[in-house]
Amino acid sequence: MRRILVTGGCGFIGSHLCEALAARGDTLRVLDDLSTGKADALPEGAELLRGDVADPGLVREAMAGVDGCVHLAAIASVEKGVQDWLGTHRTNLTGAITVFDAARRAAAEAGRPIPVVYASSAAVYGDASAQPIEESAPLRPLSAYGADKLGCELHARVAGAVHGVPTLGLRFFNVFGPRQAPGSPYSGVISIFCDRVRRGAPVRIYGDGLQTRDFIYVGDVVAALLAGFAAASAAAPVYNVCSGEACSVLDLLGRIARLSGTEPVVMHEAPRKGEIRHSLGSPRMARERLGLGPARDIDLGLRQVLDWMAREVAPQAASEKAQQ
Ligand SMILES: NC(=O)c1ccc[n+]([C@@H]2O[C@H](COP(=O)([O-])OP(=O)(O)OC[C@H]3O[C@@H](n4cnc5c(N)ncnc54)[C@H](O)[C@@H]3O)[C@@H](O)[C@H]2O)c1
Repeated sequence: MRRILVTGGCGFIGSHLCEALAARGDTLRVLDDLSTGKADALPEGAELLRGDVADPGLVREAMAGVDGCVHLAAIASVEKGVQDWLGTHRTNLTGAITVFDAARRAAAEAGRPIPVVYASSAAVYGDASAQPIEESAPLRPLSAYGADKLGCELHARVAGAVHGVPTLGLRFFNVFGPRQAPGSPYSGVISIFCDRVRRGAPVRIYGDGLQTRDFIYVGDVVAALLAGFAAASAAAPVYNVCSGEACSVLDLLGRIARLSGTEPVVMHEAPRKGEIRHSLGSPRMARERLGLGPARDIDLGLRQVLDWMAREVAPQAASEKAQQ
């Protein structure tokens, strides 16, 4: 049994991770400001410290006595980074540096290294021309969010090279699964489509719907995070976490409609300015280095989302204003 600190543990990915850590018998401490996360998403027995991941005193307190840290706390919205550039930067980059710094101080006190596995993002690549995207592709983020995630990777190198902190960065592509709330305009396309299709509400398709994404089920992301501790090192490796399968928006909608047994109502809108046309990752390195198996079939993952929504999401809870 190990003691693990999870920042952002009350969020979508964090709550699934905490469930898996608790199931294998680890002791959990979670640091979360509950800005988007929910305290009741945590498994029984998890200790919750409510507060800001960019608060050095609080993060040092949270890091004391742990064997490892998974850093997920972030403002996971490209759009919020447009509206509040400085505010999101503080959480998304200063927060990560605060975590790395606390890990080096706690390690010095404990006399042993404290590995940090952290969430990066496919947003570090921007609009990559060569697909599937390998880790060696040029890093040209197009958003404050992507730039801050790249900053996390660069500071992870500093954490290792200067302070001896072992880290591992995971560049998640489009993560989906149960507990991804459909009610926000910033939600993932899958939770919004599933919610609207099951309610018979119109679904917006921007442009021709042939833009493609690489969707990865949250259970596969948790498997990568769990495998991550063994691969964390002072060399600060970074791997893609993706399925390696391209799925177009229209294909996605067709799958959800078929699984729901309904005919979707589609509203066609003008293409969104600056939208990336294709994003397909290569999962090869992560599979080799972390020993991961193939990603879950997308239809099985979609079924999980639809079943969860039928059980736990009241139809009126979802916002009519949600955008895809
Ligand atoms: N969901 C995806 O498709 C995706 C893709 C790429 C990367 N990521 C990254 O994965 C991580 C988890 O994302 P998620 O989808 O679970 O998002 P989420 O919003 O559900 O979870 C983020 C958690 O961080 C907490 N948080 C936010 N600001 C905080 C702060 N200042 N201090 C403490 N806690 C704070 C929130 O309350 C929430 O519980 C993030 O780092 C995100 O950038 C997610």
